[in-house]
This record gives sequence, C-alpha cells and structure tokens, in this order.
Amino acid sequence: MDLQQTKMQTKSQNDFLKIIRPDDWHLHVRDGAVLAAVLPHTARQFSRALVMPNLKPPITTTALALAYRQRILAAIPFGRAFEPLMTLYLTNDTSADEIARAQDSGVIVGIKLYPAGATTNSDAGVTDLRQCAAALEMMQKLGLPLLVHGESADPAVDIFDREKVFIDTVLAPLRSDYPALKVVFEHITTKEAAEYVAQADTVRTGAIGATITPQHLLFNRNAMLAGGIRPHYYCLPVLKRETHRQALLAAAVSGSPRFFLGTDSAPHTKQAKENACGCAGCYTASHAMELYAQVFDEAHALDKLEGFASFYGADFYQRPRNTDTLTLTRQDWQVPAELRVESEVIVPLGANDTLRWQCVYA
Ligand code: NCD
Ligand code: ZN
Repeated sequence: MDLQQTKMQTKSQNDFLKIIRPDDWHLHVRDGAVLAAVLPHTARQFSRALVMPNLKPPITTTALALAYRQRILAAIPFGRAFEPLMTLYLTNDTSADEIARAQDSGVIVGIKLYPAGATTNSDAGVTDLRQCAAALEMMQKLGLPLLVHGESADPAVDIFDREKVFIDTVLAPLRSDYPALKVVFEHITTKEAAEYVAQADTVRTGAIGATITPQHLLFNRNAMLAGGIRPHYYCLPVLKRETHRQALLAAAVSGSPRFFLGTDSAPHTKQAKENACGCAGCYTASHAMELYAQVFDEAHALDKLEGFASFYGADFYQRPRNTDTLTLTRQDWQVPAELRVESEVIVPLGANDTLRWQCVYA
C-alpha cells in the first residue's frame, strides 16, 4: 500500500468538504488562445461565471456580448456543464435601447462600470456618470444590476485611498440618485467598503452586494512589498493593510448574503507581470476554491463557505441555486510555479505555496 492510499484510508469525515457547486461572480477569461487555455480551469470548479467585458476593444453591445459568449461556449471542455453569464461595458455613450436589448438577451446579467483609467483596459470607461443617466434609468427600471469597479479615477487621489473616496464621491450619491438601482460593489478591499455594504439601507434604496477575491482575503500589502516587490500580488484595487484584510474576512464568514464569491481571476503573462510597468491582476482560476477553503479554514469558518461560494451570488442575481456538488479534501499540495498557456506562461497566485485543501474532480 503506498502512502497516498494510506492517507486516503485514514481520512475522516472532517477531511471532506462537499458543497453545492459554486459560481464565480467576477471573472476575466480574455479571448482567443488565452480563453481556450483558462476557461477549462473555471469550468472544472464552477457551474457559472460572470464574465467581465474589458476586452480590447471592450464588449459594449449586446451583439458583441452574444458573439463573445459563443466563443466562450466553444472553449468549454466536452461534456462539462458550464454557463457563462455576460456583462456589458458601460461607456459615456451606452444608450437606454442598448440596456433594453441586453436585458432581453436573457444572458447579460449586469452592466460593468469602469471609471476611465481605473484598471486594465478601462480607457474606454466612464469619465462622468452624469453622461450615463439614460442607461442608468433603464437599468433601474429593468432591475439590471450595475457592477462597479469601485475606485476613484482621480489621479490626485492616493492609490490606497481610491476605494474609500469612491464610496463618498460616486457610490453613495449614485445610490441616492437611483434609489431602485441594484449594485454590486466588485472586489472590495477595505473596511470602509465592507461596512458600507453591510450597513447599506436596502429598504429605501436598491439591493447591494459585494464580491470578495481570494487574494484580498489571504494577503495584505506586505505580501506585495515587504522584502522585495512581488508583482504577482499586484492587482487592482491594490492589496491593503492587515486591518482591512481582517474586515473583509469577517464579512466573508459573517453569513451575510450581501457578500459572495468573485475571484477576479485575471490572466496576464509572466512577462507582462514581471515588468518595469507590470500589469494588474492575479490568476486564481486554476485553484480558486482551494484558496477560499484555505482562508475559511484558517478562520474556523468552513461551514460558511457554501453560502458565500454557492448560494448568495445566485440569490442576488435571482438565478436558481445549483444542485450538483463539488468536493474538497484535506490534502496538502503545492501550487505550481507556473502554468503553460500555449507558448506563454502564467504564474498562479501563491505559486509554490502549500495549500491544505484540494478539489476532487470526478
Ligand atoms: C483586471 C484585469 O486584468 O482585467 N485586473 C485586476 O487587477 N483586477 C481588471 C479589474 O478587474 O480591475
Ligand atoms: Zn476584475
């Protein structure tokens, strides 16, 4: 009997975690060869994923989103059930008719706000939300959520303060101007954002949710900057100090249905990250549930993982909860140093680290 078998046989019930299959409510899959390489990672763990529209050029119309969806469907491994849900990229010119078309498509479930210049491929983003009044009115009327990259795009604002400033200068006024608008505050990174979402009035104002990434739950900014500059920990919004990480973790394990899983997995080549001007984004699609299980386990809150990963996002988007399952087992394994994508290399988040949970694939 080899060591592996011995270990399997001595496992107890506590060493398995079987949950309803999760969904990823914030994902970047790009296009072409990268799409083909990364999508199988997500489809292996998740039943659905909300695909972000920041391609070059961006997905600004329903027609573009439907064509992109077909390319995504073509990249799903044979025999795997996986549903891509689509988003449109809001611009100063998005019309009310375009919003109505998006809603009618049945597969576009949100409209993404990138403040111009805030992050990767956001040059075509919104320069002034007042330009978007017609689109926002229509979204409010149809119940189509606005998904916000919640950072001030004012270059004068310190990068560590951009999320907090966004709440005061953009998000709070927006929710009072459009009191029925549903909003998702994407990839929150601060105590202020977690508190804003937890305490937001949703009786007189529209529903609000927030996604939380594995990197913001696992790491603070020291991981990126102490002892050397580590570009694979650089994403936007940037990692914050430890008090913020703790506030995010408390929100994620709180059992509040306002907080749900969105990996923000964002493939960039090793070369583009290890660069004098490195790209923002962490790649987690290959081991997302292992990363979340690690941090929920460290917080003694594994019993809260299923709600966060599999229920609350579906409930927010008014989609049925999944019925099939995903099993993880307590089994140390090492995150690979690199993943090969065609002729390129992607460095996964936590490369070479040992993680304590591993997905069991049928
Ligand atoms: C994302 C990307 O690379 O597309 N990068 C990131 O750091 N999160 C864009 C985004 O979600 O901001
Ligand atoms: Zn993102």
